[in-house]
Amino acid sequence: MTHMSREEVSHIVADLENRLITHDSFLELQHQIDDFLYRRKAHTAAGRVTAQRGIVVIGNAGAGKSFGIEHLLLKHPHLAYGKPYNQALTVRLASEATIKGVGLDTLDAYGYESKGSRTGHSIWRQVMRQARSHKTLFLHFDEAQHILRGKSKSEFDQVMLVWKSCLEYTEWPVSLILSGTCELLELINRDDQLSRRFDVVHFAPMTFASHGHEVTAVLDAYLKAARISRGKTLESSTLVRRLLHAARYEFGTMIGLIIAAIKLALRKGHQNLEQSHFAGAYRRQKRCVDALNPFIVDNYRSIKTGQLLSGVELEASPVTYRGAA
Ligand SMILES: Nc1ncnc2c1ncn2[C@@H]1O[C@H](COP(=O)(O)OP(=O)(O)O)[C@@H](O)[C@H]1O
Ligand SMILES: [Mg+2]
Repeated sequence: MTHMSREEVSHIVADLENRLITHDSFLELQHQIDDFLYRRKAHTAAGRVTAQRGIVVIGNAGAGKSFGIEHLLLKHPHLAYGKPYNQALTVRLASEATIKGVGLDTLDAYGYESKGSRTGHSIWRQVMRQARSHKTLFLHFDEAQHILRGKSKSEFDQVMLVWKSCLEYTEWPVSLILSGTCELLELINRDDQLSRRFDVVHFAPMTFASHGHEVTAVLDAYLKAARISRGKTLESSTLVRRLLHAARYEFGTMIGLIIAAIKLALRKGHQNLEQSHFAGAYRRQKRCVDALNPFIVDNYRSIKTGQLLSGVELEASPVTYRGAA
């Protein structure tokens, strides 16, 4: 293979980044969204307005929640996502989110300019008016744990009340999609009334036993798309194990590593993808020494890949799966 220019490599990488790979949690979420949507359409066609349910989508960082939800809403054949129709709308919460701030951000996402300082109550009433006029079916709040974490009891209750009102608003109820870390489910489960109105989709970490074959198939799909071959060092099953460990067993992070390794191979003009390209990609992402690189050391399992160099844990501690069904 001749050396590709940076531009040519960037084109191929952009194409790889734009691909969506379906997986079990993604399909479960798709089923849930379709179920809500088509049941609502049937009720509406019969002239009925019914209270809606919500979906809590949980998983660690890099599981693929935001990417999966955005894809499902954006590509849905019966939903107009984002401006100007806003049948489905995403608002991403900042770490210091407050109920009033999220209400204002939602109005902003609708393109509605709020005037003067107003109370949380009046802001959310305005949000619901916007939802009705745009015929919004799904409001998606990403990183939703931020609005509940570390809040006082009264602030927490206020959020619960707002979410219940969205689901039950008599004139135009709206389904909620709340995505975030596993902590989000724990927080929602504190309110029985609200948790009963939500179904849960868990973008759970992978394991080698259940996902080893899937990882191999995903890798092959990306190799084919990039028109590059599988090198000898990728043949052994330890590559898949190393890849899973390096990706913290998270689907999206794994894909990020595959794309980064392919990018490195293309940049170097190599025809085959090898383990050394994964090692190089990991080194660049983590800026780590070889002794901490799971694609280099024998005892890769002992490496704590869930930590950034700053020592901050990327994964939330797992919570017990208390069904919010
Ligand atoms: N189903 C998928 N198919 C292809 N790439 C994916 C998929 N899910 C995630 N990714 C990749 O992984 C990255 C991280 O996923 P993201 O949705 O941001 O994770 P989360 O929101 O759970 O932290 C995305 O930017 C995307 O590049
Ligand atoms: Mg996300």
